[in-house]
Amino acid sequence: MPGFFGTQALLIADLALIAMWALGLVAVGGWVVARRRGFPTHCRLMAWVTFAAYLPILVAMVGPWLGLFRLGSAVFAQPQTVVPFMHGVVGGLAQLLMTYTVVRMNWRRKWPPRRPLWLMRVSLLFWLLTVVGGTWVYLTLYA
Ligand code: HEM
Repeated sequence: MPGFFGTQALLIADLALIAMWALGLVAVGGWVVARRRGFPTHCRLMAWVTFAAYLPILVAMVGPWLGLFRLGSAVFAQPQTVVPFMHGVVGGLAQLLMTYTVVRMNWRRKWPPRRPLWLMRVSLLFWLLTVVGGTWVYLTLYA
C-alpha cells in the first residue's frame, strides 16, 4: 500500500518515519523534564521511548536490512544500499546503547558507569542523530 507523503515509499515506511520522529520529540521532551529536575518522570519516559522504538525497528527495518546481505560486497556500490546498510549498523548500536542506559537508570543502579550523566548524554545524542540518519535513508530511497 502506498504511503501518504506522496513519495515512492510504502505506507509502512511512512509510518516508521513518523513514529521515529514522534519518539524523538518525546525523547527531547524527556530531556527537558530532566533539566527541570523531574528525574523519575524522565527515567520512565526514556524507557518508554526506547522500548517503543523496537516496534518500528523490528517491523519496518530489520527485514530490509537483512535483505541487503544478499548483495554481498555490491552493497557498497550505490547510495541506495550503502546508506541503509550503514544506518542499520549505527542505529543498532544507538538502540542497544539506549537500552543499556535506560535499564541501568531504571532497574540496575549498580551497573557501570558510577557517574552516568555522560552515558545518558552520549546515548540520547547518538539516538537522536540516528533519527536524522533514518530520515536520510528515507530521502535516499524514496524522495
Ligand atoms: C535508533 C534506532 C533507529 C532509528 C531512530 C531509525 C530510524 C529510521 C527512520 C526514520 C527510517 C525511515 C523510515 C523507513 O524507511 O522505514 C529508517 C529506515 C531504515 N532503517 Fe532504521 N532506525 C533505527 C535503527 C535501525 C536498525 C537497528 C536497523 C537494522 C537492523 C535499521 C535499518 C533500517 C533500514 C534498512 C531502513 C530502510 C527501510 C526501508 O527499506 O524502507 N534501522 N530508520
